[in-house]
Amino acid sequence: MEGTILPNEYMVIVGTRPEIVKMAPIVRALEERSLPYIFVHCGQHYDYNMSQQFIEELELPAPTYGFKVRVYSPGLQTGRILALTERVIKKTRPKTVLVEGDTNGVLAAALAAVKLNVPVGHVEAGLRSFDLRMPEEHNRRLVDHISTHLFAPTENSRKNLKRESVWGKIHVTGNTVIDAIIQHLPMAERKSNIINELRFKHFALVTAHRAENVDDPVVLQNFVETFTEAPLPVVYSVHPRTRKRLRQQRLWRKLSSSSNVQLLPPLGYFDFLVAMKNCELLLTDSGGIQEEATAPQIRKPVLVIRLSTERPEAVEAGFASVVGVQKESVLAAMENALKLKGKLPRTSPYGDGKAGKKIVEILTKEDSR
Ligand code: UD1
Ligand code: UDP
Repeated sequence: MEGTILPNEYMVIVGTRPEIVKMAPIVRALEERSLPYIFVHCGQHYDYNMSQQFIEELELPAPTYGFKVRVYSPGLQTGRILALTERVIKKTRPKTVLVEGDTNGVLAAALAAVKLNVPVGHVEAGLRSFDLRMPEEHNRRLVDHISTHLFAPTENSRKNLKRESVWGKIHVTGNTVIDAIIQHLPMAERKSNIINELRFKHFALVTAHRAENVDDPVVLQNFVETFTEAPLPVVYSVHPRTRKRLRQQRLWRKLSSSSNVQLLPPLGYFDFLVAMKNCELLLTDSGGIQEEATAPQIRKPVLVIRLSTERPEAVEAGFASVVGVQKESVLAAMENALKLKGKLPRTSPYGDGKAGKKIVEILTKEDSR
């Protein structure tokens, strides 16, 4: 897919569902200032409900370039996205390539840019889980060290970058995930019908997709037992990676036949926002959802079903607890989290919803130097 290219544009590259959500406020800020940009979807996620649905709901333009990369090995996925993005960067010569987060597509696109001497702007720089089992941790560290502009969401992420002596310039901006909630929740509440589709009025909203969790059959089995035995019903939006693993491990039937669990396909952003707003608590290994839980418009306890988090700000502010992956610890944490309702702070450690604007303002200032 190709459109008209103006010279000297920014290039905004996305590839997975969270990148679309978190880049949308930046695209909007570029449009508000009439700054020309090229929008690229590198195709790491390709199902409608993991990609195009988000582009439509977040009112983003059709990608100037869009790919589909259906490969299952991380190396091949990274290599193929590198080759595809290199081609469009070479052809269009953007003045800066903007990437967001920690996926294989982000690493690939940033590498493609830096090898063509095009500066990289890394949105959500400086997060560290210190858990090197995670592909996201490798990707983040590598991208931070080849970026010219590092948009750190918090002071803590700035400290991580300083400690590692990155050569790019660090700017603390807040996280655009909060901007996205503020910009889209009112429309989500008008348009979503998800509440009428749920079997339960009071529920825990669950997601789980991290490779180190769902690709491990023991952890996956623990999750299935935890959700079926949870002290309140579970509404579970199942990521395609996890659906595949549940079927491979023959756990799908146990989960789908449980009277305590409602399984749903990956939800669109509007439905997910409304489900978050109406749940009692969140149980997740997602990164973005840990941040979204802290938004004043959502304000929910979030139990992180992992061994670590790269979002310590959510823990320090009292929203998140890292509860591990063992059934007993997760079930006990759910009981405790139910007591937190209404007692959480009214401000988010991830900013005031103006991160997208700040990032674009910084970019234009830096470019005019
Ligand atoms: C990726 C990111 C992860 C991010 C997540 C957001 C990496 C290493 N991981 O994980 O950091 O949190 O996206 O959701 O980059 N699949 C489909 N349809 C799709 C997309 C994926 O069926 O549209 C299935 C395929 O079987 C694929 C598997 O999910 O092999 C994993 O997809 P992949 O993009 O490699 O990783 P995610 O688990 O989505
Ligand atoms: N999300 C969604 N539908 C879902 C699950 C998540 O719209 O069924 C949104 C969620 O609101 C957040 C983003 O997707 O904005 C998080 O993506 P994910 O958990 O896949 O990735 P991570 O943040 O862990 O990288």
